[in-house]
Amino acid sequence: MYNIYYPREAVVTDIKEDTPTIKNFRFKLNGKLTFKAGQFMQLTVPGIGEAPFTPSSHPGEVEEMEITILKTGRVTDALHDEVKVGGRVGLRGPFGKGYPLGKFKNSEILIVGGGVGLAPLRSLIYALFDHIDDFKKISICYGAKTPQDLCFRNEFDEWKNMPKTSLNLTIDKPHPDWDGTVGLVPCLLEEEGIGVDIKKSYAVSCGPQIMLKFVTFKLLEVGFEPRQIYLSMNRRMSCGLGKCGRCNIGPYYLCKDGPDMCYDDIKDYPNVFE
Ligand SMILES: Cc1cc2nc3c(=O)[nH]c(=O)nc-3n(C[C@H](O)[C@H](O)[C@H](O)COP(=O)(O)OP(=O)(O)OC[C@H]3O[C@@H](n4cnc5c(N)ncnc54)[C@H](O)[C@@H]3O)c2cc1C
Ligand code: FES
Repeated sequence: MYNIYYPREAVVTDIKEDTPTIKNFRFKLNGKLTFKAGQFMQLTVPGIGEAPFTPSSHPGEVEEMEITILKTGRVTDALHDEVKVGGRVGLRGPFGKGYPLGKFKNSEILIVGGGVGLAPLRSLIYALFDHIDDFKKISICYGAKTPQDLCFRNEFDEWKNMPKTSLNLTIDKPHPDWDGTVGLVPCLLEEEGIGVDIKKSYAVSCGPQIMLKFVTFKLLEVGFEPRQIYLSMNRRMSCGLGKCGRCNIGPYYLCKDGPDMCYDDIKDYPNVFE
């Protein structure tokens, strides 16, 4: 039987540079592995350390997995600079609950991403596309610092062409290569432009902590209720199993009860956006 404490070996089969600081890694798994959109893995670079990442690939793929990684420190530097195609890493998981897709049925889904935060949401987008008839509408709002920092640019046309789906993009500051919206991600959520029937919607957001805070405030301002907002609380984690106590908000362990939490459950605790 699979031991959740013990990393399974995975072989790197492809590495693509998606932005100047983000690479997309494809892994061949040792055996089959199923995960739900939103669940995360603990990835070990041998000799360096372990870090949590949410797969960005299709949850239906059982023998391969993609993880999209921002270069930011020890483990991610090693992944970007040292790990090559044919190299081996360890994977533990999946951990966490995954998005409550059953609850989302028959609703409009507003997806709000920032920077590498679109990576976990890409897996959710694939899961929603698989059952597109179950959802009234899928509105994707996404922003990054510059046009070159937008992840998955090659897939945008495909997403926009899906039935019932829209994609709105923004970048932080004016740029010579960009004639679209300029401003921070919450600027895509102004009531008149948001294009969703708020009463029948759920909003799902993943991105930097500061973005999550202002996206949440904007969603509340335009009329979303806390129960309609789901936030990816991608804090520092260790065991992934609710044992070490590294990741709690109030009584919730984000690794076990999240990492995607309904804002209604966590809104009254002091460290939600810290
Ligand atoms: C459930 C979950 C899912 C995640 N999914 C992804 C993903 O799909 N793609 C991705 O690129 N990253 C993801 N992250 C963030 C990723 O885990 C961190 O970037 C990684 O742990 C950094 O490790 P490091 O050793 O490279 O950096 P370190 O050397 O540990 O730290 C370098 C810097 O990064 C900061 N940092 C470390 N961990 C985090 C964190 N969890 N959140 C914010 N800042 C952090 C540190 O404070 C420090 O400033 C996820 C995190 C969680 C908890
Ligand atoms: S990471 Fe150990 S309790 Fe959540």
